[in-house]
Amino acid sequence: MAIREIIRMGHPTLRVVARPLQPHELSGEPVRELLADMVDTLHHAGGIGLAAPQVNASVRLAIIEIPGGNSRYGEIPAMPLTVFVNPEIQVLDGELAGYWEGCLSVPGLRGFVERPQHVRVRALDLQGNAFELELKGFLATVFQHEFDHLDGRLYVDRLKDSSLLVYEDMLADMLKEMPGSAAALLDE
Ligand code: NI
Repeated sequence: MAIREIIRMGHPTLRVVARPLQPHELSGEPVRELLADMVDTLHHAGGIGLAAPQVNASVRLAIIEIPGGNSRYGEIPAMPLTVFVNPEIQVLDGELAGYWEGCLSVPGLRGFVERPQHVRVRALDLQGNAFELELKGFLATVFQHEFDHLDGRLYVDRLKDSSLLVYEDMLADMLKEMPGSAAALLDE
């Protein structure tokens, strides 16, 4: 296991559609090693999600791990470390809500993005078994941000307004002008 470099905006791998993993690959050493390294890398970076393209592996694999309870992400349900292979998102309700998103591949910045707040995720686990989750609110946003990486998209493509992209140390000032928008931050 090892910590891999998280590539940053500007690297071409972040902008291509990643390829699906084939079932026979899931038990193979390359995917097992990639996944173990992604877990180490996520923990080292202190984020809540990481997609394989962020470590320059253009495959449809992502992990999400959300600390529960009284975290800096506010009152949100915890999610233990979960692996998503070839995930798909279906929007169940188009009603939007916004959060200040951050991305390990766009360090130092925050951007306000509105996304649908009720989605269904279908994916395979590491054994190749299909599973699905229904997610609302903050979690719906987390998953959409994360899986966007598999399609070559970054949150900066989805800003509500280009003036709502700020350096982290300017965010406190921005929140005074947008009370109520401080609900949660994410880093993935
Ligand atoms: Ni990200």
